[in-house]
Amino acid sequence: MIVIKSQAEIQKIGSAGRIVAEILEGLKSNIVAGMTTADVEAHVDSEILKRKAVAAFKGYRGYPSSICISLNAEVVHGIPSRSVKIRNGDLVSIDLGIILQGFYGDAAITIPIGNVSEEAAKLTAVTEQSLYAGIEKAIVGNRVSDISAAIQEHVESHGFNVVRAFVGHGIGRQLHEEPQVPNYGRPGQGVRLKEGMTLAIEPMVNAGTPDIVILHDGWTAVSADGSLSAHFEHTVAVTKNRPLVLTKL
Ligand code: MF3
Ligand code: CO
Repeated sequence: MIVIKSQAEIQKIGSAGRIVAEILEGLKSNIVAGMTTADVEAHVDSEILKRKAVAAFKGYRGYPSSICISLNAEVVHGIPSRSVKIRNGDLVSIDLGIILQGFYGDAAITIPIGNVSEEAAKLTAVTEQSLYAGIEKAIVGNRVSDISAAIQEHVESHGFNVVRAFVGHGIGRQLHEEPQVPNYGRPGQGVRLKEGMTLAIEPMVNAGTPDIVILHDGWTAVSADGSLSAHFEHTVAVTKNRPLVLTKL
């Protein structure tokens, strides 16, 4: 069942989304080479606490942390660790979900640390652009796969590949609601988008093949061929007019 949100509910998701946006924006200047991924989590935890919000991922299906932090060939769901140091040249993807007054906000960014390779910079830019290409299609009357197709088209036209194993999702009073929002597919399929739907759109893009492998921790997804991977996500509301990005400042 797809839950349609009222204006008031969209505003609440927007309040949660704004917190996610503020924290992620802060990380762009706060993450420096030499920090561990656990240091990043500690910083985020204190930012969440300051805003009286609750970390959404911690405890979700047994996930142990409040952020996912995935480096280089890691695609998503990397677990913060005191033994993983961030280094100059790394691509660091951070995914953050929070709960505020019963509503979820969910977003992700990929941050290039210091001097990254040309390929890493291009992958980051193309992945973020593909998210916005998808968001553009989140308008009343379109279908879910119009979002998917726009993302895939943008990514593949730049020689990269969309990860199939994970999808975007509806969001609201739950982190994961219907519908699923794949990042690939033919246009014109799936449910029709209606005013009041709220979606987390989240392309994961590999520089190499789209295949992934899950590590022995049961969470961390890495590209099967060891190629670099990037991830961007926004929580978006479908309105009568333009798509409303709820996790942007
Ligand atoms: N943005 C991701 C998602 O919507 C993050 C989930 S991580 C988890 O699936 F730990 F909560 F599963
Ligand atoms: Co998500």
